[in-house]
Amino acid sequence: MFNIVIADDYDMVSSEAFKIMRSTVARDNPVLGLATGSSPVGLYKKMIADHNSNGTSYKNVVTFNLDEYIGIPRSHEQSYYTFMHENLFDNLDIPEASIHIPHGDAADMEAECGRYEEELKKVTIDLQILGIGTDGHIGFNEPGTPFESETHIMELEEQTRKDNARFFEDDIDEVPTHAITMGLASIMRAAKIIVIATGANKANAVYGMIKGPKSTDCPASILQDHPDVTVILDQEAAARIK
Ligand code: F6R
Repeated sequence: MFNIVIADDYDMVSSEAFKIMRSTVARDNPVLGLATGSSPVGLYKKMIADHNSNGTSYKNVVTFNLDEYIGIPRSHEQSYYTFMHENLFDNLDIPEASIHIPHGDAADMEAECGRYEEELKKVTIDLQILGIGTDGHIGFNEPGTPFESETHIMELEEQTRKDNARFFEDDIDEVPTHAITMGLASIMRAAKIIVIATGANKANAVYGMIKGPKSTDCPASILQDHPDVTVILDQEAAARIK
């Protein structure tokens, strides 16, 4: 079931997401599912500001990231490992041992998928943060991914690589072709989900997620079956559902 929040701008979108995050982090041993990309950066800034000014502690927080590029080392400036440390973890008091990010540079990637899914199955994610791709992907589950998928390797769509080229000096050839990602079934096990989407280029994907047929053509449409999804949008991303 969707609870839809339409805010005026990105800062207000991030504030709405932060309100939910703050109440989750206040619990005893919260488990967070985290995303990379542009959508959650405003939320992460608010978490850091709150940690710095109010002393909110992340010592008891455990995190699981959705995905990681395959074929670049963790030390690469565009790895999701680096992204998460720069944009969030290095600025909080979260223990490194509580941070889970799939390894995109494992010698045996199939084994890494199994290992990550096993770790995920030991917990329940209290709050999963999601962005949405312009093609309707969540995590890196591209169109056609089965709804029952668990952590797996995904070949990235050309559109996704184009969308992400901005992080690779606008050179699509530098964007990895594959990623390891939590599957759609893995994501659906979260107790609560927030989807953050802003900008006109997300309007079609947002429409497909909320109003479109439930179909693997729009992977995010699986969220229609989840009991607790808050979708936080700016006016542009909400244009087609208003
Ligand atoms: C990132 C992820 C992706 C992004 C999506 C939107 O970990 O799993 O699904 O959330 O590609 O990316 P942005 O927010 O950069 O538009």
